[in-house]
Amino acid sequence: MLVSAKEMLEKAKAGKYAVGQFNINNLEWTKAILLTAQECNSPVILGVSEGAGKYMCGYETIVGMVKGMIKCLNITVPVALHLDHGSYEGAKACINAGFSSVMFDGSHYPIEENIAKTTELVNACNVLGISLEAEVGSIGGEEDGVVGAGECADPTECKMVADLGVTMLAAGIGNIHGKYPANWAGLNFDVLAAISEKTGDMPLVLHGGTGIPEDMIKKAISLGVSKINVNTECQLAFAAATRKYVEDGKDLSGKGFDPRKLLAPGFEAIKATVKEKMELFGSVNKA
Ligand code: 13P
Repeated sequence: MLVSAKEMLEKAKAGKYAVGQFNINNLEWTKAILLTAQECNSPVILGVSEGAGKYMCGYETIVGMVKGMIKCLNITVPVALHLDHGSYEGAKACINAGFSSVMFDGSHYPIEENIAKTTELVNACNVLGISLEAEVGSIGGEEDGVVGAGECADPTECKMVADLGVTMLAAGIGNIHGKYPANWAGLNFDVLAAISEKTGDMPLVLHGGTGIPEDMIKKAISLGVSKINVNTECQLAFAAATRKYVEDGKDLSGKGFDPRKLLAPGFEAIKATVKEKMELFGSVNKA
């Protein structure tokens, strides 16, 4: 079922677990994540960056693919199709194309402008029953050309944005997209606790899920994180499995060059990664 992320995240917040957002890049990615969610009886959020949106031939193509797969694969767990780090224009385009959830990342604007633009989207999303993620305090690292410095969010600004009526709030707490450097200071739990205290029931979103140690993930969930985004880890798992297939010479034996065979180990690697995360986040059997 393609649904807004609102209900699944409210349940996660109340039940002290998190729903994974896994970014998609193509048919194999989407199918692997949907099948794993169904097997784990877990709600799931499919994330689409603007770059991945262009790569997959636009938002309407993606909506068609996801809806078609949900039907064909008999996916009955709740699935949200979500724009990741959207611009204002990108969020509007996804709303029009039939996404069930969007993120407007206004974290690089002055807070007044972030609030003004987020407010406009709150109204549009509320009318259509679409969930909306806002961001305060940019996430470090680089994702699809969007570069964040990784500052920690100001809890008072978080409260201001939460009060606009958004569904979920991403707040920088020292997290970074991509691999974490060896000298990474870790998540700032004091800031997370302060944000949680000020924003109450608002589901909080942790970006940059790749490479965060398990104990930090669990602590973040205990402090109010209800949605965790994972992208790079699936890409690394897919690449490593595909590399092994080719290095083992399997593409050269029989019909091993058939893309359905060539991409199968990577597909299985994504499934294993997603399952591992769903178990860690506690969303198994929470559909
Ligand atoms: P990673 O690529 O570090 O897992 O981050 C994913 C993310 O936050 C998507 O918004």
